[in-house]
Amino acid sequence: MAAAGPTAVLSSGKTMPLLGLGTWQSTSEQVINAVKTAIDAGYRHIDTAWVYGNEKDVGQAIKEKIAEGKMKREDVFVTTKLFYTFHRPERVREAMLKSIGRLGLDYVDLYLIHNPQCFKYGTSPAEVFKPSADLERLFDDVDHVDTWKAMESLVDEGLAKSIGVSNFNSQQLERLLQNCRIKPAVNQVELHPYLAQQDLVDFCKKNNILLTAFSALGAPARPKSFASGEEEPVLMEDPSVVAIAKKYGKSSAQVLLRYHLDRGVSAIPKSVTPSRIQANFDIMNFSLSKEDLASLGQLDRKLRYVGANLFVKHKFFPF
Ligand SMILES: NC(=O)c1ccc[n+]([C@@H]2O[C@H](COP(=O)([O-])OP(=O)(O)OC[C@H]3O[C@@H](n4cnc5c(N)ncnc54)[C@H](OP(=O)(O)O)[C@@H]3O)[C@@H](O)[C@H]2O)c1
Repeated sequence: MAAAGPTAVLSSGKTMPLLGLGTWQSTSEQVINAVKTAIDAGYRHIDTAWVYGNEKDVGQAIKEKIAEGKMKREDVFVTTKLFYTFHRPERVREAMLKSIGRLGLDYVDLYLIHNPQCFKYGTSPAEVFKPSADLERLFDDVDHVDTWKAMESLVDEGLAKSIGVSNFNSQQLERLLQNCRIKPAVNQVELHPYLAQQDLVDFCKKNNILLTAFSALGAPARPKSFASGEEEPVLMEDPSVVAIAKKYGKSSAQVLLRYHLDRGVSAIPKSVTPSRIQANFDIMNFSLSKEDLASLGQLDRKLRYVGANLFVKHKFFPF
């Protein structure tokens, strides 16, 4: 893969660019333009999911860039995710085929179990995310190991080049590691200086699982229902982050993204603003000193911006 920017070799043997573009919470037109801008800026890793409702747009933008001769299919790393209602092993392939159909691709580079918590087949995203006192009636309790075996079959079939998980804690990962044929290559979780999760970082490093940081900029536009409800400081305005950014002549966002690369972690900042998409990728010409990484490390306050209170009654709630 002719990737721009630093890459990691996954346990699957495949190469993944560490910096990717997130696509959650954008309109169709925004996603198409964002993905095309990102590819022009050098990104070769795009993150989407069934539940973002934009796989078709991501696929269209990629197709257009391939048609322009900007890159080949094998030059771009595409991640999508198994929605919560498809954990039953017999449903996994169905979900995968629908996702790659919408993307218009023959395979995805990475397929993730989006969440450990699962819901009954047929439950709509609207029902899953609608605040409701009796949400529990929609919960399912499929063992992750059973879902994982179906994920492994997707690799055998060539539909997914690598497989992984998202929002799993280390006990849930350990269980998969003990019972798998193919190791989870990636765990995608919320990660930033306010939620440093050093134990999880160490666990994943030890087990050769690459961590990908979502909401790396502090998810300033997260939906209210995803927020913790407590007063939440704005990560990009943190005085230490601002001071470090000033020192390097960079923006807070650039420092927050560089923090992950310097920690050996992947990051997938979302933006639909061309200047931000470009600036977020323009972080290859500096790295943070040990001292600055350590001072960012001291900001940890175990603050989870996204999903801290979602599905807490589910038996697989990971946090
Ligand atoms: N696996 C999961 O459960 C999960 C959960 C959440 C997110 N994700 C993935 O991770 C991606 C990123 O996370 P996220 O979307 O929650 O949040 P994020 O990347 O932390 O923040 C995105 C927000 O920051 C703004 N922004 C981007 N670059 C900026 C810059 N340089 N300066 C100032 N503001 C900037 C964006 O605005 P504009 O777009 O208006 O520029 C957008 O509102 C998602 O899009 C999705 O792909 C995965």
